[in-house]
Amino acid sequence: MKKLIAGNWKMNGSLAANEKLLKDILAGLGQPACQVAVGVPAIYLAQCQALLAGTAIDLGSQDISAQEVGAYTGEISGAMLKEFGVRYAIVGHSERRQYHGETDELVALKAQRALGCGITPIVCVGETLAEREAGKTDEVVKRQLAAVIHTNGHCISEIVVAYEPVWAIGTGKTATPEMAQQVHALLRAQLKAASEHADRIQLLYGGSMNAANAASLLAQPDIDGGLIGGAALKPQDFLTIIAAAA
Ligand code: PGA
Repeated sequence: MKKLIAGNWKMNGSLAANEKLLKDILAGLGQPACQVAVGVPAIYLAQCQALLAGTAIDLGSQDISAQEVGAYTGEISGAMLKEFGVRYAIVGHSERRQYHGETDELVALKAQRALGCGITPIVCVGETLAEREAGKTDEVVKRQLAAVIHTNGHCISEIVVAYEPVWAIGTGKTATPEMAQQVHALLRAQLKAASEHADRIQLLYGGSMNAANAASLLAQPDIDGGLIGGAALKPQDFLTIIAAAA
């Protein structure tokens, strides 16, 4: 299976900065051996759609409404995202779970809504530092993924999963390749029990993945790509990670 390197820009960028970033990445990209995507702030989807048309980089959103249409102030529906060429939607990022109160059940519904609109959800799971220290890592990620499996049934083979230990996000502390692989193997087994096509589900690692550590993480048997925050805002670092996923 091809690997997937997806940038998560979070709440960063501007019209000028986005244009420069994408042009710099495209200038060095060539024909990538892996899939590449960027998750941009919703307000810049139209701009990025135009800049990425006909290129090897797919467009992603950072969220999607669990609702279809109607009186949901501030929300953006899957159908709207689809109109702007969105192929991936990040769902259940730990920052949304933490700051916006997203529950396992809501995340599962968002994944379902994305799939219903022909958008691939990148479902994020991961434990906090306190949960890891309490020995609850396996329990937490299994619970988070179980909700998504429960709601989505056999469609589960169409999702992407990102394991992002919360303590590693934006902190410069990366899980060691072995630590990450251990959780990825667990998630793979859980997906296999739910779908005979689980082998084709891309399992991404995220959390301070950078140009220096990407190759060793991506060499693990169950790490099929990366969800990249900070390093996705630096063209040369993002390109190095893409090259490491060849
Ligand atoms: P980071 O963010 O690479 O800056 O740690 C990853 C993420 O939150 O998706």
